[in-house]
Amino acid sequence: MTRGVFVTGTDTGVGKTLIAGSLLRSLCTSGMRAIGMKPVAAGIDSGAAMNTDVAALIAAANVAAPATDINPYSFALPVAPHLASKAAGVDIELERIADAYARLAALAEAIVVEGAGGVLVPLGTQTDMLDIPARLDLPVLLVVGIRLGCLNHALLSALAIASRGLRLAGWVANRIEPEMPAADGNVTTLRERLPAPLIADVPWCERGERAVQFDAAALRVLGFEEGLRRGERDHSSAFAAKRARLPLP
Ligand SMILES: Nc1ncnc2c1ncn2[C@@H]1O[C@H](COP(=O)(O)OP(=O)(O)OP(=O)(O)O)[C@@H](O)[C@H]1O
Ligand SMILES: [Mg+2]
Repeated sequence: MTRGVFVTGTDTGVGKTLIAGSLLRSLCTSGMRAIGMKPVAAGIDSGAAMNTDVAALIAAANVAAPATDINPYSFALPVAPHLASKAAGVDIELERIADAYARLAALAEAIVVEGAGGVLVPLGTQTDMLDIPARLDLPVLLVVGIRLGCLNHALLSALAIASRGLRLAGWVANRIEPEMPAADGNVTTLRERLPAPLIADVPWCERGERAVQFDAAALRVLGFEEGLRRGERDHSSAFAAKRARLPLP
């Protein structure tokens, strides 16, 4: 059975694509057929063929699929999805996203779905980002950009996820600032208060050193167990985790 996870974050620009891409690469290394999905993307660089997140997810996957399934909704304007879709005269429909996901699920064993912005970003007049994992029945991975304000953002995000009946499978501390006073204290506070395990603590890093490797235990916590059994047999040496840290019970 295909497993999936929905990667959300405390804000825009906190490292969702970095983590989703790293997760995809780790799944591929573990021997699984893995693909990424960005249901709604807003913003295409001038001269680019597609949104940069979509391109990054495609580059990190080992399964090919039509771009319209990987990214059913693509808007030129780099603004909130409901505003971009309004400007384009297109309604964002959950059923279209679900149909695309089902087609990807027929091709891959693992699907990493990246949201846009944070948990309650509106998609339309009645819908928001968390309606996507709810419709697709996916556990949620929360990327916390470690910076001032992240405690409130992370705890509010977890509250919203729980209030919608969704499962927060884990969270990632992503140290997106080179120097942040009390960064460790912030991570410790979230370890104490978030109702899910810290799956990786990612240091700030220079360009080119940003890939995070998720080990087998981390992938398991996210629900990617079935394919791993085969992967462990075939690629056991690939599980040497570099930065992934997992406080399992
Ligand atoms: N640990 C880190 N150290 C240094 N730079 C980082 C780190 N994590 C992410 N970045 C950088 O921060 C920027 C935002 O990261 P990323 O694109 O993954 O965020 P995002 O949450 O996916 O953003 P969006 O909301 O646009 O989808 C990128 O330039 C990325 O390379
Ligand atoms: Mg992104």
